[in-house]
Amino acid sequence: MTKDPYAFNGTPLTEEISPANTGDLSNEKDSASKTQKQFYIESYGCQMNFSDSEIVASILNQEGYKLTETLENANLVLVNTCSIREKAEQTVRKRLELFNGLKRKNKDLKIGVLGCMAERLKHKFLEEEKMVDIVVGPDAYKDLPNLLQEAEAEREAVNVILSKEETYGDIAPVRLAANGVSAFVTITRGCDNMCTFCVVPFTRGRERSRDPKSILGEIAQLAEGGYKEITLLGQNVDSYLWYGGGLKKDFSKATPLQRKTAVKFSNLLELVSKAQPSIRIRFSTSNPQDMSLDVIHTMAKFDNICNYIHLPVQSGSNSILKKMNRHHSREQYFELIDNIRKNIPDCAISHDMIAGFPSETEQDHQDTLSLMEYVKYDFGFMFAYSERPGTLAAKKIEDDIPEPTKKRRLQEIIDLQRTHSEYRTRQFIGKTVCVLIEKSSKRSSEFWSGRTSQNTVAVFPKEKYKVGDLVDVRIEEVTSATLIGTAIGISSSI
Ligand code: SAH
Ligand code: F3S
Repeated sequence: MTKDPYAFNGTPLTEEISPANTGDLSNEKDSASKTQKQFYIESYGCQMNFSDSEIVASILNQEGYKLTETLENANLVLVNTCSIREKAEQTVRKRLELFNGLKRKNKDLKIGVLGCMAERLKHKFLEEEKMVDIVVGPDAYKDLPNLLQEAEAEREAVNVILSKEETYGDIAPVRLAANGVSAFVTITRGCDNMCTFCVVPFTRGRERSRDPKSILGEIAQLAEGGYKEITLLGQNVDSYLWYGGGLKKDFSKATPLQRKTAVKFSNLLELVSKAQPSIRIRFSTSNPQDMSLDVIHTMAKFDNICNYIHLPVQSGSNSILKKMNRHHSREQYFELIDNIRKNIPDCAISHDMIAGFPSETEQDHQDTLSLMEYVKYDFGFMFAYSERPGTLAAKKIEDDIPEPTKKRRLQEIIDLQRTHSEYRTRQFIGKTVCVLIEKSSKRSSEFWSGRTSQNTVAVFPKEKYKVGDLVDVRIEEVTSATLIGTAIGISSSI
């Protein structure tokens, strides 16, 4: 229905993860001689992982490694992994088996695991499975040069230390798989929310925010480079809080001056919006419990902040929300939705939903469906519950919903979402929308593909327009996921 933030290349909603080699396609990079150190990197999971791979690429470039997108040319193969659901981990294991097959032919090849699986499984990869040479957690990428040397010397190369400070604010990411139009900019790392089903707080550590100066600097560079849209990234962006550094949880120890000059997410949005009025601004992800009215008002005030909120709810049942340790009720969520609609009438809203959380009854499931009826989300990312070792849910609540029941409930959620997505896209018929052109459409090379402010994909005949143009498009037909129309001119809006 739209680009899935957990499966980078727009895979179908129920598919968990799609491999995406983030390699740059330029020949220049691939034509490096065989003696040149070359790395190949594959990324799985959330947008943050894709963004992190750009930081890794920057660090390796400094070490003299060139990016290759041909696996066989690489001396170093890296896989940036995801632990969010069991299937995501299985996908990565299969890839590691394939990489090990290559290693049998090329003894000098080094294999590295990055990201959440590295953090979760730590030394296990080296000790028990002997599948990899390097294991690096999400906060330890600056140690890669040292770890590479260790691996060369056949010593154990593991760093899974989680940091209180690391935000990689001083590293200029190498834009991988870039369309030159839209880019991710990380603003927070880690998560303090401890939703009982979620492995992220364990793999990405405590929450910390990045210095607004460094964020503004990165965005200014992107603007200079011709980028037209940025997405501010974090596990929980609304919880952004800069008070001079340090963990979010230590804000209680901040000095009076630090408190007075602290920058909240709504302040950051305003700063970015004013600094770059011709850049479109998106953000992801918003946790309902942390989204303030200030953020909604700031969105309403600035045209270049896109009218789209990804607002995962996970369940429509109050008793399940409580067991998930989500700090809001169904009624509070409705209040938030009402406030969004009142202040930003054409705002698109998307969700994440989990079917079959332990102890979920048919009534709980019906509550989820009725919540969806109330909101009529534009898009959704929907998953069957997958127990993750070490999480509070795994420790305390038995995974007691049979797989067929989980699957059936998930299918009902997906089917309902499809009708709502169709309802939403149909509202665009006959209207003119502003579309930022990103690439050629997959359906036809004669068509451009881009997105509206609401994050809905729109396609239209190419004519004289080019990638990066903001174009007014009159919408003539729709599917549940795509608007189809004709361009009527360069847009004066954003
Ligand atoms: N705040 C994060 C959420 C990360 S997890 C972000 O920035 O996107 C992404 C989604 O995966 C969650 O919202 C949830 O719907 C789903 N998810 C997380 N843990 C899960 C589990 N154990 N089983 C099934 N789905 C899960
Ligand atoms: Fe996970 Fe909940 Fe944080 S879903 S990333 S613990 S907001």
